[in-house]
Amino acid sequence: MDSQLRETGTRHQWPDRVFHWTMALSVIVLCATAFLPILGLRFDWVPAHWISGFVLAAAILFHWLRVGLVHGVGEMMPGSDDLREVLLDLRARSGTLGPAKYDAYQKGYHWLSGLVVLVLAATGLLMMAKIDTPWWRRDPSILSDAQWGIVYVAHGFASLAIIFLVILHVYFALLPEHWATLKSMVRGRGPLLTRGARHEQEH
Ligand code: HEM
Ligand code: HEM
Repeated sequence: MDSQLRETGTRHQWPDRVFHWTMALSVIVLCATAFLPILGLRFDWVPAHWISGFVLAAAILFHWLRVGLVHGVGEMMPGSDDLREVLLDLRARSGTLGPAKYDAYQKGYHWLSGLVVLVLAATGLLMMAKIDTPWWRRDPSILSDAQWGIVYVAHGFASLAIIFLVILHVYFALLPEHWATLKSMVRGRGPLLTRGARHEQEH
């Protein structure tokens, strides 16, 4: 049996769990306030949308602090084993992949969804210039019409991409074979590795 893969411990420390669920909730509220009015549900969606956008931006800054001061980027960096995990078939790669906290698909998801969320946050923050808030009055003149066009198209495409990515992510998180990692995002304890060298040999 695979002792490495079954080895459990603290997979996600509590500040990282608080970050994940704060970020997840803000992304879900952002999607709901953006798309429910388009589906015909009428309500004053703009304040709820930008306030959760600010929560998301603050969560991302917190995540960067944690990565910079506590984690480092090592566990999330793609390497040659990740390329082989995606490109080789199961038989060819069995037993040859090094153990890893996150597998190739999780790393791919992290960097893709991270990029899309950053595009959403950056364009969304720019779009704040178009509304009155308690701190400033609207001033669309900071960009030309053509530049605003680019900002809106980027925000719109990225919002469609994040819906797709989140549905995919939640679908995989809820599969029975992933319940142990799902629990680890709630309670902290879970498998230390999702890709283990000896685990691959068993297939
Ligand atoms: C360029 C910016 C980013 C860097 C450098 C970065 C880096 C990392 C690293 C290194 C980890 C693994 C921590 C570990 O377990 O050792 C991680 C985890 C994670 N990242 Fe990011 N990340 C970035 C942007 C984002 C964004 C924008 C999001 C939001 C969608 C995000 C969401 C997450 C989540 C939910 C985790 C798992 C929580 C945990 O650490 O246990 N990341 N990130
Ligand atoms: C109800 C919704 C969600 C559930 C059930 C969920 C579940 C999980 C779980 C269980 C993990 C840990 C995986 C592991 O330990 O290996 C995780 C990680 C992560 N989550 Fe979520 N999540 C949700 C929403 C979101 C949202 C909205 C985003 C951002 C758009 C997000 C981004 C991430 C990222 C980047 C990671 C780290 C990479 C990975 O492990 O795949 N999650 N999520």
